[in-house]
Amino acid sequence: MDIADRLTNFPVGAAVTLGDLTGDVHPCLARIRATEPVSWLPAIGGWLVTGRDHALAVLRDADSFTVDDPRFSTARVVGPSMLSTDGDDHARHRAPFVGAFRHAVVMDGFEAWTAKKAGRLLAGHLAAGYCDLRAVLAAPLAVGVIARALDLAEADPDRVLGWYRAIAAGVEGVNAGSDVGDGTRRAVADLRRAVDRTVADSAGSLLAEVAAGGSLTADELFSNTAVLMFGAIETSEAMTANALAHLLGSADQLEAVAADRSLVPDAVEESLRMEPAATLVDRYATGAVDLAGVAISAGDLVSVSLAGANRDPTVFAGPDRFDVSRPNLNLQLAFVRGPHTCLGLHLARLQTIAAVNAVLDLVPDARLDDDFQPASGLVFRKPATVPVTWDPTVE
Ligand code: HEM
Repeated sequence: MDIADRLTNFPVGAAVTLGDLTGDVHPCLARIRATEPVSWLPAIGGWLVTGRDHALAVLRDADSFTVDDPRFSTARVVGPSMLSTDGDDHARHRAPFVGAFRHAVVMDGFEAWTAKKAGRLLAGHLAAGYCDLRAVLAAPLAVGVIARALDLAEADPDRVLGWYRAIAAGVEGVNAGSDVGDGTRRAVADLRRAVDRTVADSAGSLLAEVAAGGSLTADELFSNTAVLMFGAIETSEAMTANALAHLLGSADQLEAVAADRSLVPDAVEESLRMEPAATLVDRYATGAVDLAGVAISAGDLVSVSLAGANRDPTVFAGPDRFDVSRPNLNLQLAFVRGPHTCLGLHLARLQTIAAVNAVLDLVPDARLDDDFQPASGLVFRKPATVPVTWDPTVE
């Protein structure tokens, strides 16, 4: 099918602009999904998959839909890693890290720490009676957690954040067609030295253990470390900001969760369904392939809309409603499925749960300000701020 045929055959997709995908995307995704669950979008230069079944089919079939493509920008900045490889190579990159991110290991090492850290971050602001929960809680918690998990020699959270910002700017630049800039190159070199020093000096640390396993080269250990950092910071900040905004913005759900704290994990899961922090994941067709009756050509970009899949009305009844008692919350796809399932999902959930609990414990009367603006963004979706107010005189 040539481009002209694609524009004719997918009129809803053809009319979509990048602005539609960046702002209040959900009505737009609902429109596309209703008639073109696999649609051609000139705005992204690729196919957009919005139905949950088709999304799963793509995510689980790495033979037909791969991440391993020269257009994948993160790999061009940090080198090949688990995020940019498939098949045996992917398994080799990922396997040495799996143990450290298992549920039990994460709970053991991080549950008490994240709860304490979240409480401390908020405690400094209690007397003010207002704050931006994204800036005060979500962002520093995200950086603190991954800095601790990677345990890099001589790297405090500020330094980790500096590397993240420089590498993210490099990836954005490459996406926009520029070369990797000097600032990004310096950050990559600096992070590389920190990884090498950690391996040499910090026996017992995650990175030293992975290096000792011997299945990754020093370059590969570095690129996977960068991807762990890259995958953890903006996403977790967004996940926590979204969860707090959803909960504080919904009086009846907030009341239910405050009355029964065992519902906090469900509230976090429902927030992930409503607004998956990483909204689009890209794959490339390895050959000509049929998806939902649509003929996809070899090399085509196939972008999976996790936001679209998560509001598929054939799976989630009343999909635009934030409902923590939904019976099938576990079907949401914010962490994808298949070989690239998010490695940090337990650590991410733990920190957002800790943040929600800290707010319920320390500022139980916190209310979202009227001027709150909902999440936006093409790939990472989050509100610019989560402004809240409470009565500082109430204990
Ligand atoms: C501690 C925090 C986190 C860490 C350490 C982390 C780490 C990772 C890593 C290493 C991967 C690559 C796995 C692979 O390709 O085999 C990954 C994938 C992914 N992560 Fe996370 N992540 C974190 C938080 C999050 C959050 C909060 C979200 C969204 C709510 C998220 C969404 C994703 C998605 C969608 C993928 C799949 C990407 C793709 O298939 O192309 N992650 N994560």
